[in-house]
Amino acid sequence: MKFKLSLIALAIMAACSQKEYPNETIGIIPQPQVVNYTGEGRFNVAEAVVSCDSKFDDLSLSHIADFNNKLSYALHKNMVVEDLQGKGIRFVLDKNCKPEEYSIEVKKDKLTVKASTASGVLYAIASISQLLPDAYFGVEQADADWTLPEVTIKDWPRFGYRGMHLDVSRHFFSVDVVKKYLDVMAFHKINRFHWHLTDDQGWRIEIKKYPKLTEIGSKRDETVILKRFNPLVCDGTPHSGYYTQEEIRSVVDYAENLGITVVPEIDLPGHMIAALAAYPELGCTGGPYKVWTRWGVANEVLCPGKEKTFEFIEGVLDEVMELFPSEYIHIGGDECPKVEWEKCPDCQKRIAELGLKTDDEHTAEQYLQNYVTERVQKYLNDHGRKIIGWDEVLEGKLAEGATVMSWRGAKGGIEAAKQGYDAIMTPGGYVYFDYYQSDSVSREPFAICCPCPIEKTYSFEAYDGIPEEAQNHILGVQANLWTEYVATEPHLFYMVLPRMDALSELQWCAPERKDYERFKKDVARMLRIYDALGYTYSRNIYGEPGLPGYDGPLGGSK
Ligand code: ACM
Ligand code: ZN
Repeated sequence: MKFKLSLIALAIMAACSQKEYPNETIGIIPQPQVVNYTGEGRFNVAEAVVSCDSKFDDLSLSHIADFNNKLSYALHKNMVVEDLQGKGIRFVLDKNCKPEEYSIEVKKDKLTVKASTASGVLYAIASISQLLPDAYFGVEQADADWTLPEVTIKDWPRFGYRGMHLDVSRHFFSVDVVKKYLDVMAFHKINRFHWHLTDDQGWRIEIKKYPKLTEIGSKRDETVILKRFNPLVCDGTPHSGYYTQEEIRSVVDYAENLGITVVPEIDLPGHMIAALAAYPELGCTGGPYKVWTRWGVANEVLCPGKEKTFEFIEGVLDEVMELFPSEYIHIGGDECPKVEWEKCPDCQKRIAELGLKTDDEHTAEQYLQNYVTERVQKYLNDHGRKIIGWDEVLEGKLAEGATVMSWRGAKGGIEAAKQGYDAIMTPGGYVYFDYYQSDSVSREPFAICCPCPIEKTYSFEAYDGIPEEAQNHILGVQANLWTEYVATEPHLFYMVLPRMDALSELQWCAPERKDYERFKKDVARMLRIYDALGYTYSRNIYGEPGLPGYDGPLGGSK
């Protein structure tokens, strides 16, 4: 007992002797789980040599070499990756570290990184680089301070699923832009890229069995630039683009090297007009259909009364599974109007055969969507994959093993977790990065909805409303960027940065590590990094709304 008490006393003393966060140092986003300042000395990176354990895998070694190259370039000296005998910056393979965990120990004469995987190494480098001067990011800086305080950092993620989404249907973005997006995600320790590849306004993935999907479905005549509903204001300019399978593979490989799994989304049975324009026989009426030039929810959807619809879905998913190793395939399921199904003889026949009946809670047509979800889920499960669906998939009866993505607020995720399904939280009001960056909407690029300043994003807590016993079903948090009104690269990054900084703390940090005042200070450093790396971002955190150089319609435009 005495022994136990003295241990507790020691622990308390140790905790009390930890230094406060010193003002002169800069923080790391997302904030590491444990940061202890351990002494008064400083380690000089400019005089250090990088060395590493040769037992690291090739990917870890390439991350270390890349770090070494950047230092060498910035410091105009030849730093070599040697074995562990060197002093200076040492990367040590430590099997005790969990897959995404790492530690950094800075002492006067050496800096030691420990990790067991390439992701751990990458995350340690992301953290260290935020402590280095701008010169590390390629900025000319004669007076750069390359010294670091003596500090110990231990770090690991709160959630396993840390997602960022991109809609490339409403506007197409090149492979280069997508890779730049992945780079900035990895810098935030985000490990899932939800790639929304198909929608009413454009089919963006080559499917060899169905070539018309891209021949016809990837092109639209023009784009609505202002209002969603009448009178429409369109730009009169055709828009097109798709990724070849080779390009998809290059993105998947690129992401994998950054520790990011690409989760593809084929949104079904709604949001399918681009596919129907290519293969009208898959719709209830047989068309003709035209790739949509407007936004909103289309009534024309896939016809689940016809067997060839399922043949089509399976044919597409076969190629999707070939291209994407992800355990999860997102099958959409959102915003699927049932008006056509109500009138379609094939759909009604299917409803009768399945014995689906309207009851107090749901219509027969809602149960028909369940049938689609369940059938596609079984197909993917039989091929060793799992489904994610938007929270509408909860309407009716959802089969076991599905994961629900909660977007209409948090309630879908709360309900899913209570019912025993896994859930990913991506609630509209907090992490929809297509919403305005500031309250001053008249100074912001026209956006789909509502102000969502970074402070609002930062205030989200994934477990709010989730009973304790169901919290294990919350796999993580994701932010979404829908691109109805986002057409260019500068606008794209403006919408996600620096809100992605806030997102990363929701995903990575224990709630008690979150602190908006500290975070705001640390964002200043990130903005300088974005400048150095050529990313646009919002400065609304300093009360400066608006995207310089943007010449499109502004918020509040009629
Ligand atoms: C969604 O935002 N329609 C999932
Ligand atoms: Zn039908």
